[in-house]
Parts: sequence; structure tokens; C-alpha cells
Amino acid sequence: MALLVKRLPLFAALPGALAWGELGHYTVGYIAQNFVQSSTASWAKDILGSGSSNTSYLAAVATWADTYRYTSAGAFSAPFHFIDAEDNPPSSCNVDYDRDCGDDGCSISAIQNYTTRVQDGRHTQADRQMSLKWIIHIIGDIHQPLHDEALEVGGNDIDVNFGSDDSTNLHHIWDTEMPEKLVGGYSLSDAESWATTLTSDIKSGTYKSQAASWLDGIDLSDPVTTTMNWATEANADVCTIVMPKGESYYVNKDLSTSYYTGAISTVELQIARAGYRLAKWLDLIAANDSKRKRDLAEGVTPAPLPEVAAPPKPSRLSRAKMARAARGYNCNHAH
Ligand SMILES: *[C@@H]1O[C@H](CO)[C@@H](O)[C@H](O)[C@H]1NC(C)=O
Ligand SMILES: *[C@@H]1O[C@H](CO)[C@@H](O)[C@H](O)[C@H]1NC(C)=O
Ligand SMILES: *[C@@H]1O[C@H](CO)[C@@H](O)[C@H](O)[C@H]1NC(C)=O
Ligand SMILES: [Zn+2]
Repeated sequence: MALLVKRLPLFAALPGALAWGELGHYTVGYIAQNFVQSSTASWAKDILGSGSSNTSYLAAVATWADTYRYTSAGAFSAPFHFIDAEDNPPSSCNVDYDRDCGDDGCSISAIQNYTTRVQDGRHTQADRQMSLKWIIHIIGDIHQPLHDEALEVGGNDIDVNFGSDDSTNLHHIWDTEMPEKLVGGYSLSDAESWATTLTSDIKSGTYKSQAASWLDGIDLSDPVTTTMNWATEANADVCTIVMPKGESYYVNKDLSTSYYTGAISTVELQIARAGYRLAKWLDLIAANDSKRKRDLAEGVTPAPLPEVAAPPKPSRLSRAKMARAARGYNCNHAH
């Protein structure tokens, strides 16, 4: 871990070394800003201490969790960025919470934890702020198909080329290189303009007829089932879009041409879904949290928040992956 911590400045300085890449996470944040109710925006700005006129209050904190994991205080949270589906792509794709969420937790258990904690007045403001930053980040990660896949550490160990970059990997091109090739940059303002495009696709363009169905089954009282649906949907792309020809086919191939052309619409769809669903999830939390506060102020005792159960025990294989995570495979590319 000491090694990892020392290397942080190096990786922090590298554009796009973070999961979904900075561009993807920022864009999810901006899309959510475009869809949340104004009461939700105020609720979030209040927790984040953003200031009421802040125009990037969700986007600006969307990559915090990728920095936190490389600090010694945050090292425990490395598994919260993914769920390691032990399926068998491309012939069989599936995610199973009991099988795939290790005993150190995963993206799904973390959403459950932080959805409760952000509302829990027994925690400090600083803790609730971190909880909200986690939710913003993890809903993004869940929508990157290789964050819902164990094979080759979510594709980190599948070496591929991308144009002039001859030492990248399949995970990284999905996180970063394909989105950046599409958009042509990775700054907050690049993300803001990509979010504007995807927002109009949702409101009046390509996604208009399907966007309502993206919220099917969303249920604040059941974060595990809600987010498992999203993970299962993204994991299915591993079989059909990410590696339909089997992992060995892609090794050392240049994926910046026909592979990119075939995959980029899935990247766009997944970013759009993540932002739209994040907005709705925050609307549900803010409404629930505000009602609890009103009830308390009026002397009505609100229903107690649930205790967060420990994540399920992992299979032997998952345990091996977790051990590997703890050793720091993330020092090249985050999973
Ligand atoms: C906007 O708010 C975020 C927290 O939500 C903060 O990190 C960022 O620095 C703020 N930006 C400006 C320009 O004040
Ligand atoms: C409010 O949030 C808590 C914690 O996530 C959850 O257990 C409860 O079911 C929510 N209430 C509603 C009405 O969804
Ligand atoms: C919930 O979040 C807290 C604060 O980050 C962390 O200490 C705890 O381990 C988490 N619990 C689970 C079950 O993820
Ligand atoms: Zn992440």
C-alpha cells in the first residue's frame, strides 16, 4: 500500500487513468444535474457545501472516490468500484450477488450502505458528504460493462492497442480511450458539452422513447435489487459488445477502428443511462430524507433507517480476486 500511496501524484496527473475516466464520471454528473428536481439540487448542494450557484456541483465531485481509494484511509474501499461477476463470457453472462460480491463488499453493497448513510443524521456532515460522493461515483461505475465482470480482472489483463497507444488494455479503453476519442478531451467543460448532447438525446432525440423504461424497477427501499438490475444489464454487454469473439481474439489488436465503431454507441447509451438513473436515485433519496427531517421537526418519529447488512461471503475464486485487489493490481489501471 505504501507503494500505491507514493505513486498517487503520478497517476493523478495522468489524464484518464481513473475508472470510467474522469470524462465519463463528470458527464454522468452533469447529466444528473440536468434532470434532478430543483429541491434535490438544493439538498445535494447543501450536503456538498457547493454554494447555490455552483454549476458543476455533482460533476466536480464525481471522481473523488477514485482518488480516495489510493489513500491509506480509503484503501479499504477499492472493491466498491465493481462487482466481479464470475460468469463465462462470451458464452454466458450473468451477475449473482451472493456469488460475486466479496466479503469486503462491492459496488452493489456500497450503494446500499451509502444510500442509507447519506440520510442518517447520526453520522457527521463530512460522512454524509462522502456518502453522496460515493453514490454519484458508483452509479457511474456500475454502467461500465467491465466493472461488472471478473474475467481477466475486468479486462485489465487483456492487452490491446488503441491507435498509437500500443500498451493499453480492454478495461482502460472502455473507461477512457473510447469516450475520449469520441469527445476529443477530458476536461469538465468537455464533459459538460457531451452531457448537453446526451441530455437532448434523452429529452427529444434517440433515447426519448426508451428513457422512461430506464427507470423500471427503481426502488429506494431495495437498493440491491435496483442496482443489480443495472449491473446485469451492463454485464450482458460483455458477451455481446465487449468481447463477443472471446478474450483471446482481442489481444494486441488495434481496437480504435472497427471495434470502436461498433462499441461507441454502447458507451454513449451507458453514460446516458447512468446520468438519468443517478438523477432519479438522488430525487428519491432527497425526498425521503427531507420527509424524515420534516417528521422529526414536527415530533413525528420516522421509521428507523435499516441497519446495513454485511456483504455476502465470496466464493473461493472471488476471494482470490479480492486478494489480488488488495495487492494493488490497480496501480496500472483502475477496475
Ligand atoms: C462546486 O461544488 C463542488 C462540490 O459539490 C466543489 O468541489 C467545487 O469546487 C465547486 N466549484 C466551484 C467553482 O465553486
Ligand atoms: C427511505 O430510505 C431508507 C434508506 O435507504 C429506506 O430503507 C426506506 O425504505 C426509504 N423509504 C422509502 C419510502 O422508500
Ligand atoms: C459503509 O461505509 C462506511 C464508511 O465509508 C465503511 O466504514 C463501512 O465499511 C461500509 N460498510 C459496508 C457494509 O460497506
Ligand atoms: Zn470507480
